Amino acid sequence: MVEVNVPATTANLGPGFDVLGLALGLHNTIRMEEWGSGLSIRIYGEGSLDLPTDEENAVSKAAMRLFEEVDYRPHGLYIETVNKIPLGRGLGSSASAIVGGLVAANELAGAPLSHQEIFKMATQIEGHPDNVAAALFGGLTICYQTEDGWRSLPLRPADSIKAIVLIPDEQLPTSESRAVLPIEVTHADAVFNISRAALLVGAVLNGRSDMLPEATRDRLHQPYREPLIPGLDHFTANVREMLEIGVALSGAGPSIICLISASQEKEACRKLKGFIDERQLNYRIQPMEIDQCGVRVIRS
Ligand code: HSE
Repeated sequence: MVEVNVPATTANLGPGFDVLGLALGLHNTIRMEEWGSGLSIRIYGEGSLDLPTDEENAVSKAAMRLFEEVDYRPHGLYIETVNKIPLGRGLGSSASAIVGGLVAANELAGAPLSHQEIFKMATQIEGHPDNVAAALFGGLTICYQTEDGWRSLPLRPADSIKAIVLIPDEQLPTSESRAVLPIEVTHADAVFNISRAALLVGAVLNGRSDMLPEATRDRLHQPYREPLIPGLDHFTANVREMLEIGVALSGAGPSIICLISASQEKEACRKLKGFIDERQLNYRIQPMEIDQCGVRVIRS
């Protein structure tokens, strides 16, 4: 039996569209075992009533893809997932299923692939690299494409940096949130984002929370996604300045992520609750640690 713990992730962090990722202290657990014949899947927690328990299951699909790649044939497979990451909220639930499935299958097959090889495979399955990189490597990850495929540089955020995640009840499919993006952007907007993305990495690594309000500004995706996310314009236009905290759409949304220093947490949660109640928005507020390790394997 292999057990794998995979963190939730937030992508983009504002300006780092499809490039920056951050692992969060909320985890799904995936257990996998060669057992019997055929495929047997049990799901607990988030998605237990909706997710498929056959070959269409994302964890099982990823595992089968890895087995095929390394030419390993399990005689039968039992998969159990305990899901804490809410589905379709921009918190990397699909990346966690893909990474968890690949890493658990790799362990069962005798660990033939490195994490960098698993990262490439996970990116191919997911279609973009930012969530899977953070789920695999932990901390803050910078992804970049080379002729040889996607690569990632994991970095350790300052211990003082924390997140507060605002999670709505409704889901938003990533495909829908990507469909509203323009094919081309202006040079000025590209320069705006490059400066903020660089600033963001410096701020997160050096614990410069004073830079986070400016560093989370974006012109490449959030303005186009605003109509899909209730209250996002208010949070990015007003709340960010009033509370002096970083505010960004989490991945493709609809969750919103606030980046703060630990000393701001209590006050920020209290004020965020005030803004949410005042506007009658439907978000629950969940403070989260940064996960510095990424996916963890426990063998028994
Ligand atoms: N970078 C991706 C997007 C993340 O914004 O569409 C999806 O979770």
